Amino acid sequence: MGASEPQITQNKKMKIVTTIEELRGQLSGQLRTAFVPTMGNLHEGHLSLMRLAAKHGDPVVASIFVNRLQFGPNEDFEKYPRTFEADCEKLNDAGVYVLFAPNEKELYPEPQEYRVSPPHDLGDILEGEFRPGFFIGVTTVVLKLFSCVQPRAAVFGKKDYQQLMIVRNMCRQFALPTEIIAAETVRAEDGLALSSRNGYLSVTERAEAPQLALALQQVSKRIHAGEKDIAAIEREAFDTLKQRGWQPDYIAVRKRANLQAPSRDEVAAKSSLVVLAAAKLGATRLIDNLEI
Ligand code: PAJ
Repeated sequence: MGASEPQITQNKKMKIVTTIEELRGQLSGQLRTAFVPTMGNLHEGHLSLMRLAAKHGDPVVASIFVNRLQFGPNEDFEKYPRTFEADCEKLNDAGVYVLFAPNEKELYPEPQEYRVSPPHDLGDILEGEFRPGFFIGVTTVVLKLFSCVQPRAAVFGKKDYQQLMIVRNMCRQFALPTEIIAAETVRAEDGLALSSRNGYLSVTERAEAPQLALALQQVSKRIHAGEKDIAAIEREAFDTLKQRGWQPDYIAVRKRANLQAPSRDEVAAKSSLVVLAAAKLGATRLIDNLEI
């Protein structure tokens, strides 16, 4: 590089640790750690969580671990996108101090027989109904990661609304010293919620994908307009997606507080509701939700 050229000083300071012991060494004495667990293949949604974490603690610790426990036997564990190098660069640029990236042997050196079991009325509905055991896998790994990182705060995205609620309730019920912070869903310009699984979509599917968010908006509009027949609204949104070639699992209007179905009066009050959806487009299963 010539002397006259401006020097680009890359601020490469993120520590990458792969063992629990190294992680504890890096974080010893830290009382205000803010943590963001991920499965990698990072996009702007994940990075917004890192930035929010920085407002709630210091240092910011991220993890990348594709957690086999939360994948069903016919799900995409093997082909889940793994882009470690690019992820590291993004995390470093986002100001993350430590990346914890254990392999399976490190996190599960023996079969994980002790597991967290979320309550049926929250863990076995919506995502839990269509992905049996999913939330057991999620809460078990989150508890284990929390035990490794011992964060004061941890950030989760509203994109995975039910996951956020289940993790928050787990922390409350186990009196964990970790505050759960909710981050808004980051979307592409056309409304599609960013997701690592969007990369599976073909060009035509990608063009169709924003229809899921549109369907949620339609549901919200109808409730705001005073319609009270939730079942009819849900069914029509479901059928619309089906006619467009989707295979929807559910479109459901629920109470934000506990994800149970609202009464007619609660619908009429139009407050504190959320509409959640999951649908397959081709081979790709997408989820989204919208607070009404
Ligand atoms: P992953 O799908 O990688 O997501 C990591 C975090 O990023 C989650 O809190 C998720 O809600 C958030 N996120 C994903 N897409 C987002 C978007 N478009 N806008 C805002 N936040 C978004 O969720 C998991 O991993 C795993 O279940 C995990 C919690 C790491 C446990 O294995």
